[in-house]
Amino acid sequence: MGQSKKRVLTGSRPSGTPHLGNYFGAYKPLIDLQNSYDFFFFLADFHSLNGTDTATETRQFSFTLLATMIACGLDPQRGLLYAQSAVPEVCELAWILGCQAPYGMLTRAHSFKDSQAKGIDVNMGVFNYPVLMAADILMFDADVVPVGQDQKQHLEMTRDFAQRFNNRYGSIMHLPEPLISDDVAVVPGTDGEKMSKSKNNTVAIFATDKDWKKQVMSIVTGSAQLADPKDPATCNVFALYRLVADIVEVQQMADKYRAGGYGFGHAKLELIDKIKAVFGPMRDRYFELMKRPDDLRDLVLTGSARARVLAREKLEKVQEAVGVIGRPY
Ligand code: ADP
Ligand code: TRP
Repeated sequence: MGQSKKRVLTGSRPSGTPHLGNYFGAYKPLIDLQNSYDFFFFLADFHSLNGTDTATETRQFSFTLLATMIACGLDPQRGLLYAQSAVPEVCELAWILGCQAPYGMLTRAHSFKDSQAKGIDVNMGVFNYPVLMAADILMFDADVVPVGQDQKQHLEMTRDFAQRFNNRYGSIMHLPEPLISDDVAVVPGTDGEKMSKSKNNTVAIFATDKDWKKQVMSIVTGSAQLADPKDPATCNVFALYRLVADIVEVQQMADKYRAGGYGFGHAKLELIDKIKAVFGPMRDRYFELMKRPDDLRDLVLTGSARARVLAREKLEKVQEAVGVIGRPY
């Protein structure tokens, strides 16, 4: 990887089946940049431990995520594909950053406030989430971080922690920019709320025809009758169709909505066809990869070993700057 290229980095939690929100908000923007940037993609597996998934689920979702990224076109030979848990230097950096992270700021993090609002007994993993995420990013001097809108505040905190560190210890942390495209910042789920692994409202990137159909058919629509003209701008089916169809097809569907005589059921069938057309060709590779978890594990461990070389270099600079003893190697 050439040092002169800009670096794009993002991560995702192995906490469910990857969905169209993940794809358009984070995975695709990363994959689109992989030829022109040095890229880093990691399994944020420590980040998923503050949920309620079992060990079997975390393991299984890790393979699902790895297979998804590779089937979607991420080329592990070009950049770095690694696991957060396999680069322990990240947690060390998180500790150091945490020593300057204001308590008050962490109490204002959406991740923390959401858990509190839901009455969940908040653990330190949730409270520290923004600090660990900052370490993920600052460890590798990322220039650009493609994420959905929900992560904007975490990116702002990352920049804040970096500035605090630099003010106290010198220019060591590189300030990242978020990459959040307006049109995919919040992909709606089948219920019209933000699509999320933790809600039962997702359309998976890869699924069987039967499951795709089930997911799309469950999209909540308005109560207009078949003959009525409809407003595409307020329809969840149309919101997803826009993401997978080309500009002409999107315009054609909008015209049909406005003309009337075109039902939500028709739109759903067109959406299913489009999902099959876009993701179908990559799906065989996905199912094939899912049959070889050992290969996926080898792949991510190889990438993690390479990531550790960079992480150690960075951590040594940080340790030197803060004045701790450092490492015996
Ligand atoms: P989830 O919120 O589904 O558990 P992850 O933690 O795996 O997702 O997030 C991976 C990336 O996908 C993050 O950058 C997140 O902002 C993005 N993302 C998740 N859901 C959406 C959505 N509905 N629209 C746009 N981006 C999303
Ligand atoms: N916090 C992100 C999410 O919940 C996942 C994540 C963890 C991440 N570390 C990151 C994304 C670093 C980008 C960069 O969606």
